[in-house]
Amino acid sequence: MTQANVLIDSQGRVLRDLRVSLTDRCNFRCLYCLPETEAAQNFYRGHWAHMPDSAPLVQQWVPKSNLLTFEEIERVVLLAVRWGIQKIRLTGGEPLLRHGVEDLVARIAGIPGITDLAMTSNGFLFLQKAQALRQAGLSRISFSLDSLDRENFRKITGRDGLAEVLDGIQLAQQLGFHPVKINVVVIRGLNDHELEALTDFARQHNLSLRFIEFMPLDAARAWLKEMVVPGREVIQRLQTRFDLRPVASDNPSATAKRWAFPDGRGEIGIIAPVSEPFCGHCNRIRLTADGKIRTCLFSVTEHDLRSHLRGGAGDEALGQWLKEVVWQKEERHHIGEPDFVPPTRSMSCIGG
Ligand code: GTP
Ligand code: 5AD
Ligand code: SF4
Repeated sequence: MTQANVLIDSQGRVLRDLRVSLTDRCNFRCLYCLPETEAAQNFYRGHWAHMPDSAPLVQQWVPKSNLLTFEEIERVVLLAVRWGIQKIRLTGGEPLLRHGVEDLVARIAGIPGITDLAMTSNGFLFLQKAQALRQAGLSRISFSLDSLDRENFRKITGRDGLAEVLDGIQLAQQLGFHPVKINVVVIRGLNDHELEALTDFARQHNLSLRFIEFMPLDAARAWLKEMVVPGREVIQRLQTRFDLRPVASDNPSATAKRWAFPDGRGEIGIIAPVSEPFCGHCNRIRLTADGKIRTCLFSVTEHDLRSHLRGGAGDEALGQWLKEVVWQKEERHHIGEPDFVPPTRSMSCIGG
């Protein structure tokens, strides 16, 4: 493939990974994303009383008519693949809330040129959807699981759903989804006392479990640097109990630095976008459920693809438009810097 027909940005990064959000809705209310519960308020107010009062985002749910249809999403994916995209990840909000999600999976799984199709889910509805997703051609999935303690899980997610998620993880493994990855967002004073238990869990069940630094993408705008447990601290702590060895990476665009155990059971990943940003090799773009292209998780500008799709643009024009949009991809994020401006939408609208 020549440089002429790939998506490339002004920094020379070639875009290979498209994350497609299927809905901004979610059946959980995670403290780091949509913290609308009393438990979330109590945590932020009680634990971090010195916190400045920042204006929370007012969540404007996307009206149904603005959601891209499956036909529209398929068209965008086809176009993106023609322009060199190879990896597709379906996200939300919670993607399993989208009716008929398995039909979309089947459409996308059949597109030649896609080397990897994955999904990120909170797992609550997975038991009902697992068989259909597998049959439709989904081969791997990542689940959010921030606590193994029923009460703490409820506090973090706003839902009493730990049992369903654990059963979902087990079923995913039984059905042959591989790898099954677990995402843990670590927040100081909330779930950092569970690092060891979560690591034991990864070993017991032979899972790839990734500890993620908390990023300022929460609708409450409650993020403070003090709440972030740096990835290095996580690994140092785990190394006092586990014999962890770094795994060499063959993918410079990977978000996670991987660590393995001598017996090969389970794996730990550290995703440290705050303390060790990986923007220099970022190859990701995002499509929101309402058809906006975001060239960075922290974009403050969204590019309105939906209006072009619905305005009758042909594939050639859409491709050129996408090429120009991608060229403008942000060099990096500015988390923690004085000039940092948080995105105008929370993670549930952007997709993980
Ligand atoms: P695979 O290698 O395809 O499994 O993907 P991944 O390892 O990147 O995992 P996933 O897509 O599940 O992302 C895990 C988490 O990393 C997300 O939930 C985000 O918290 C964070 N993340 C993913 N992509 C980016 C990114 O482009 N920038 C930043 N800052 N964080 C990201
Ligand atoms: N910081 C870091 N990761 C986040 N996620 C959601 N919100 C945040 C945040 N503020 C991740 C969770 C979830 C995925 C969809 O996005 O791990 O699994
Ligand atoms: Fe890519 Fe933006 Fe994430 Fe950096 S913050 S890795 S540029 S999406």
